[in-house]
Amino acid sequence: MTQTVCLNGEFLPIEEARVPVLDRGFIFGDGIYEVVPVYGGRPFRWAQHLTRLKRSLAAIGIDNPLGDEQWTDLVHQLVARHDWANQFVYMQVTRGVARRDHAFPQNVTPTVFAMVSELVPPPAAQIENGISVVTLPDERWLHCDIKSTSLLGNVLARQAAVQAGAAECVMFRDGFLTEGSASNIWVVRSGRLFGSPKDNLVLEGIRYGLMAELCERAGVELQLRRVLREEVLAADELLLTSATKEVLPITRIDGRPVGTGKPGPVFAKLHAAYQQAKAA
Ligand code: PDD
Repeated sequence: MTQTVCLNGEFLPIEEARVPVLDRGFIFGDGIYEVVPVYGGRPFRWAQHLTRLKRSLAAIGIDNPLGDEQWTDLVHQLVARHDWANQFVYMQVTRGVARRDHAFPQNVTPTVFAMVSELVPPPAAQIENGISVVTLPDERWLHCDIKSTSLLGNVLARQAAVQAGAAECVMFRDGFLTEGSASNIWVVRSGRLFGSPKDNLVLEGIRYGLMAELCERAGVELQLRRVLREEVLAADELLLTSATKEVLPITRIDGRPVGTGKPGPVFAKLHAAYQQAKAA
């Protein structure tokens, strides 16, 4: 299928979309992005993703180039042009094109780019057996709460995980859990779920709010607090969430089994509740 993207309001085949080399996204990574899953043509948790998009723009001082209806319309138009059953939308706004200078340029128009891709849900083998992760020091900057396109720290962390034969990393700062390279991490101890606080050290995934709802539905107690590295390594279960991975069990960490080494009962409950929420 030809993939159609939208660049500054124009719909065109992905191969034809071009951005000037002086775009500050290219030169500085000066931009923000969103990733929204779309099931059966319906963007999942769209309102929350749009709110976070606006929060990221405000955090780096880019005026929101589109109104809510225009964003919504853009997403629906792109989705309607592709017939994959499940898709995900990638949206990016950069500060625009200007002569290279670190300080914000005056009177530039932000670059708005959006594309959709096929969303292939995690394979059954990952849900049945879980995935492997490695632990790494979190060496990123101190504004991980902004969904910035400057992702070098995340890229290097993911690559280190892949080179170690793992699917993802779990990062720690000052002895405490932060998150994965492109996911939030959840820790199960004695039937209770723990997650990192929503502060500047992690991206507040849209699945934070969703996990709270799913826990409520599944009767699992959820607490956000600093989680020690030792607590992660001694967890009964570890889970990962993201827009594209949904919720996955982590069954090996640094080559050692997590709990029994099999996906556990809390994962089973939350995975079932997630599938229900998608279908609702
Ligand atoms: N990443 N933390 C980081 C660093 C992330 O990059 C992501 C998602 C998350 C989870 O957020 P959400 O539940 O809203 O997807 C947490 C996306 C999927 C990406 O970069 O492709």
